[in-house]
Amino acid sequence: MPDHAVVNDRWHPASWQEKAAGQQASYPDPEKLRQVLNQLSGLPPLVTSWEIEALKAQLGAAQRGEAFLLQGGDCAENFEDCSSPIIANKLKILLQMSLVLIHGLNRKVIRVGRIAGQYAKPRSADLETRNGISLPSYRGDLVNGPAFDAESRIPDPVRLLRGYGRAAMTLNFIRALTDCGFADLHHPENWNLEFVQHSPQALEYQRVVADLSKSLRFMETLAGTRNSELHRVQFYTSHEGLHLHYEQALTRRVPNRQGYYNLSTHLPWIGFRTAEVQGAHLEYYSGITNPVGVKVGPGMSDDWLQELVERLNPRQEPGKLLFIHRCGSERVNEVLPRMIDAVRRTGRQVLWVCDPMHGNTETSHSGYKTRRFEKILHELQQAIEIHQQMGSILGGVHFELTGDDVTECTGGARGLDDSGLERAYLTQVDPRLNYEQALEMALAIVRKAGT
Ligand code: PEP
Ligand code: CO
Repeated sequence: MPDHAVVNDRWHPASWQEKAAGQQASYPDPEKLRQVLNQLSGLPPLVTSWEIEALKAQLGAAQRGEAFLLQGGDCAENFEDCSSPIIANKLKILLQMSLVLIHGLNRKVIRVGRIAGQYAKPRSADLETRNGISLPSYRGDLVNGPAFDAESRIPDPVRLLRGYGRAAMTLNFIRALTDCGFADLHHPENWNLEFVQHSPQALEYQRVVADLSKSLRFMETLAGTRNSELHRVQFYTSHEGLHLHYEQALTRRVPNRQGYYNLSTHLPWIGFRTAEVQGAHLEYYSGITNPVGVKVGPGMSDDWLQELVERLNPRQEPGKLLFIHRCGSERVNEVLPRMIDAVRRTGRQVLWVCDPMHGNTETSHSGYKTRRFEKILHELQQAIEIHQQMGSILGGVHFELTGDDVTECTGGARGLDDSGLERAYLTQVDPRLNYEQALEMALAIVRKAGT
């Protein structure tokens, strides 16, 4: 095995440009792109190095089994959905799920949204063809528009500035909400989604909340003081760091710290389609100081996985590297044990996270891209068992979900079927769990993995 323990000293924020970069937009006007990037590089960061280091420390705890990561949000955020109810609902469902997990797993839960920057998407084809007309594929709002017309599909660099702006607005609202009464653990009723009271999970959830509130009162009575720490919650952001020009423009040095930070998000991840060892994404992500995720799954050889471990965490820092496995419910039994074993043979650690969404995408009879709740859950349950049997630690979960009443995934307690998908099928890319399915998933995790 090659030894990459020596940190790459030729790395700099633009060194990825010497390598082949997959899934990048092709801009017709390079000069305009240059001007926009120049402007972006001068704008203030969206997150701070203190937050990033605090997250890394918590992810280190998750790697040791002392905390649990809950990462979730849209497959692709879009600029239009940068609105108060949509952001607040996403925050609410993640807070509710985290309460269920804290209660059932008896571990601190680290909340990370796929939010405030999840605007760039990898696509399986460069072109999309409808009725004999071919246009460039939609690559996320950061790059072009979803409408199927030539004008919308031209990559426009100004979208990078709009994306930065939307991310800043989203983050501003999240910070305001999580820092005030809204996030106060003494008042979890603030997190109730209107529709939760009608949900099949309502009773079970209310029981969890009542139980937690009782424990909290008990602790505070013992201590004789109210725990002011519990008036706010920590919430972190993540996105697929696909658009390397954008990521580079927000990569900075900060005073009194070593290295470069990507200050566009706390936790960027490398997608399954851009994780080649020789590729530009690996080059860029091998040099930044943030914790970094990488999607891993079928088709990746042992050597490949081992190279990822060494390149992305050369200093062997705890909480630095997340392996987010997305195998599919039919293949997880064959693929995951081999991956765990390959990592084990490096003698190094990763934080294992299960993404039970991306290996389970299918097309419904009615033609919608969908996922079945039962398959998602089944992959997760198998992953929990495999990690337990192999003495390894599943430190988190990764979902595509929304706090709204959408109909994109089938199944769950309400038994949504193919014919129900059209009622509120809103996603522009992958199907998300709706608020009820998401809460049900959290309750199911606890049933399987709870202490
Ligand atoms: C995603 O997370 O939306 C995604 C495209 O996943 P993957 O890279 O695992 O296919
Ligand atoms: Co997706």
